[in-house]
Amino acid sequence: MKLLAPLFDANRRWAADAVSADPEFFARLEAIQAPQYLWIGCSDSRVPANQITGLKPGEVFVHRNVGNVVVHTDLNCLSVLQYAVDVLGIRHVMVVGHYGCGGIKAALAGRSLGLIDNWLRHIQDVAERHADILSAQPDDVARERCLSELNVIEQVRNVARTTLVGDAWRRGQPLALHGWIYDLGDGQLRDLEVSLTGQAPPDAVVAAALEAVRGRYGIG
Ligand code: CO
Repeated sequence: MKLLAPLFDANRRWAADAVSADPEFFARLEAIQAPQYLWIGCSDSRVPANQITGLKPGEVFVHRNVGNVVVHTDLNCLSVLQYAVDVLGIRHVMVVGHYGCGGIKAALAGRSLGLIDNWLRHIQDVAERHADILSAQPDDVARERCLSELNVIEQVRNVARTTLVGDAWRRGQPLALHGWIYDLGDGQLRDLEVSLTGQAPPDAVVAAALEAVRGRYGIG
């Protein structure tokens, strides 16, 4: 008996459909990978990068972890970023958070879930940095939504501060960073307007995006 047979059946149907719609589909993909986008998102099963953006295989390079966190010493994330920027020559990096994120909820609740507590510590650092906004929120849902946005903006800042993004900008490589938030409730993506291109100083753009969050959540 084949294990997980329904998944293999679905795969065969999908491959057959792809070929009937475009006979050269796999031949083209096999020959070259040339995506324009790197998606850094949450591992959450409800936030699949390709489907949400309508992008086909070959069009988006993807890194996902719990809470879409970019840590300066995370060799996994940094390697994905370096390969995407230096080898694939991608043009856009989007950090994408989402409302209703289990990582954000756990970070705010502060209850122990095991090893992952150490990873969520990075999100708690963001929460502590913006404690004034979060403590002013009326309930947990507002706090979670607010922290989801703040976390995206802080992670975009982290991407901008990596040596490899700095090097790409210094040599004039076109590379833009973006921060988006996805709403599980209606399937909509929203731009948090923290796009960085290496032209304007990142700090000013980040500060404006953080100020916009304060405005949306009734502070300042
Ligand atoms: Co999540």
